[in-house]
Amino acid sequence: MYKISLITGDGIGPEISESAISVLNTINDKFDLKFEITKLSAGDKALKDTGKALPDETISVIKQSDACLKAPVGESAADVIVVLRRMLDLYANIRPAKSYPHMPALRDDIDMVIVRENTEDLYTGKEFRVGDSAVALRIISKAASKRIAKYAFETAKQRNSKKKVTCVHKSNVMKITDGLFAKACTDVSKDYPEITFEEMYVDACAMNLIRQPQEFDVVVTTNLFGDILSDESSQVVGGLGMAPAANIGDSFALFEPVHGAAFDIAGQNIANPSSFLLSIKMMFDWLGAKHNDSKCFEVGRKLESTIFDLVKSGVKTKDIGGDMSTTEFTKQIVDNL
Ligand code: NAI
Repeated sequence: MYKISLITGDGIGPEISESAISVLNTINDKFDLKFEITKLSAGDKALKDTGKALPDETISVIKQSDACLKAPVGESAADVIVVLRRMLDLYANIRPAKSYPHMPALRDDIDMVIVRENTEDLYTGKEFRVGDSAVALRIISKAASKRIAKYAFETAKQRNSKKKVTCVHKSNVMKITDGLFAKACTDVSKDYPEITFEEMYVDACAMNLIRQPQEFDVVVTTNLFGDILSDESSQVVGGLGMAPAANIGDSFALFEPVHGAAFDIAGQNIANPSSFLLSIKMMFDWLGAKHNDSKCFEVGRKLESTIFDLVKSGVKTKDIGGDMSTTEFTKQIVDNL
């Protein structure tokens, strides 16, 4: 039995959380794998109700669970996810982008993953005013850069793909901070002679994601660049509705969709739950590796293929060209599992 903490979030968060619960309950019923789900509050509603975007009770239940699922939260995202990533030292943010049949992708041969450093850079919240200026501290350490570089090379080694790592930075302008990041990645690359290593400036990377996305395998980059490039890579393969993500540390992990609370479509039962469900697939893989549990991998594969078979057969939500509601699409997944 795995204990799963689930932050239900804001906007479309509660709708896609219900979808996630239906799928996990179906797995509990149909497979030899059991999950106990505890729903938790965090985000804008929690802030309004309790005065805290990330209530102490939520933190305590997350710490006692085997893994955390997090639906998107709203304007208080920085006080929830950025804090959790740092508090739990979830240093690797993994955001795959893969083209699948019948998706509005730029090309059908894209298969890449962004490995984003998750604890430093401009996201540490160290901002202040000096006279009429506003200042933000960009912190990049050698230890964190080497740690994420190693994670990227290990990912490239395990992937059945191009065996290539692209280190994305802007060291021609930010010579000290990005210079350090680039050097750390170059140093680590020497331990992986079987993996091709290249460097790319972030502006060139943004362009190449449109021009030749099929050339990428593993992209390793700093926090802010990774945040922006991963939204772009999601769109390149068809949109935020199919974009999962994992936040991984040495002993704990949190899984969430790349997208936000999508207030513009909240409450309409049209959100695509696939990003969240594919994040659950990433959770199964992580639990499987951590606990040496082959059943987790099996169920993960089954969930992923169920979603993609449905999409392939034209059973889709509105954002990717279909007409299914969130609940109808979820029911199709549950019936097909
Ligand atoms: P967003 O990702 O919520 O939405 C961008 C666009 O994509 C919208 O048009 C939305 O309708 C669409 N979209 C997103 N997810 C979708 C889905 N599952 N199915 C169908 N369409 C989908 O980004 P936005 O509008 O910039 O942010 C909204 C709120 O979310 C903000 O308050 C922001 O702070 C928060 N946010 C939270 C994050 C988190 O919890 N990790 C991450 C990003 C944003």
